[in-house]
Amino acid sequence: MTPIYLDYNATTPLDPAVIEAMLPYLREHFGNPSSTHQYGKTAHEAVEKARIQVAELLGARPDEIVFTGGGTEATNHALKGVIFAKPTDGRPWACDAHIITSTVEHPATLQTCDFLKRLGCKITVLPVDRYGLVDPGDVLKAMDRKTTLVSIMHANNEVGPTPLNRSARFRSMSMSWAWTCCRWPVTNYMRRKESAPCTFVGASSWSH
Ligand SMILES: Cc1ncc(COP(=O)(O)O)c(C=O)c1O
Repeated sequence: MTPIYLDYNATTPLDPAVIEAMLPYLREHFGNPSSTHQYGKTAHEAVEKARIQVAELLGARPDEIVFTGGGTEATNHALKGVIFAKPTDGRPWACDAHIITSTVEHPATLQTCDFLKRLGCKITVLPVDRYGLVDPGDVLKAMDRKTTLVSIMHANNEVGPTPLNRSARFRSMSMSWAWTCCRWPVTNYMRRKESAPCTFVGASSWSH
């Protein structure tokens, strides 16, 4: 009996168009994009073309796009990057940093927050309601002058979109688009005045 696959929120087969686009780079143009020989240059050009395409999708500049190996790396990069980059005024950076997140975030987010907490960062983990949603009012209540980052997923893989994805106006927001990028229109999300300036976005693998 052929099993029926009902777990597309975990992973999907590759879109045939993606396979088609990738095959030349898996077969012939397999160079390391950092290498200076012709194989490397061809791969480098392809990566830069992809960077422009992703930037267009998000309404960002190509130099704002950082490719990572996956969602966990993107989330670590976003959270630690924002906190470590925070101006310190001569004090240890973590003493002045505050992150707001929720109980239903991916372990990549919660464990990174735990790590930052051990370094002295204040972490507020908000509860969710019976529908698995964070109340935007709770986020606003939790915010203070030290709040550096709000990290709430754009959509949950089990309950769907979070109410923060359209209504939030936060100074610095890390939203994971691991589940939504390429499923929902996200063009110009990063530039929309009414939404949060998403400093970093973790949109993991192509199969999503
Ligand atoms: C928010 C979030 N972070 C991290 C991950 C893990 O991604 P990866 O397996 O690519 O590291 C996922 C996907 O499962 C995710 O949804």
